[in-house]
Amino acid sequence: MVMAIAALLVSFTLSATEPTAKTEKDMKSIIVYFTHSGNTELAAKKLAEVTGSPIVRLLPSEPYTAADVDWVNEQSRCTQEHLNQTLRPAIKPLDVDFSQYDTVFIGFPIWWHEEPAVIRTFLDNTDLKWKELYPFCTSYESPMSEADATLQKGYPDLKWHTGLRLPASVDQIKEWISR
Ligand SMILES: Cc1cc2nc3c(=O)[nH]c(=O)nc-3n(C[C@H](O)[C@H](O)[C@H](O)COP(=O)(O)O)c2cc1C
Repeated sequence: MVMAIAALLVSFTLSATEPTAKTEKDMKSIIVYFTHSGNTELAAKKLAEVTGSPIVRLLPSEPYTAADVDWVNEQSRCTQEHLNQTLRPAIKPLDVDFSQYDTVFIGFPIWWHEEPAVIRTFLDNTDLKWKELYPFCTSYESPMSEADATLQKGYPDLKWHTGLRLPASVDQIKEWISR
């Protein structure tokens, strides 16, 4: 009897936290991206064409000016946000019910070899547990692997897939998603 109650409790606890298995047909995905100069927006739109996912843009409450993204200046906003990894610039609220999605693509420009701080604000404030997370980036030359590492280190409880640097061919995108 005690065993039966224990089993019931375990099963209830699991079902209350872990989503039930879904078929590929039921899986819904959304693309969330931040862009400063437009490259990542183009990449997000390409990804939306391939996946059929809706896209939503992350906007900082206080837009970044040209002076803010001057990485040569040690006092600039982006440099300060890089040097102090606890900074979380406010973002405008997103009108998205994330419980409707199993897969979230998260796009951003590489800043200082990693994800910009606004992405961390989004991650801190959104319940993404149990979701399949696919980061993607644009950059001058930095590979995605550096941001993969900082995301996995900063948010080890989330389910990260290896990210992709865009632009990439349709075949590369399809291969990435199917992995
Ligand atoms: C503040 C800042 C830091 C950057 N740091 C890097 C970097 O470390 N490595 C790199 O390859 N590109 C870097 N870039 C270039 C951007 O990643 C690249 O131009 C990106 O495509 C811009 O995307 P967006 O147009 O969506 O804003 C940096 C750009 C800015 C503004």
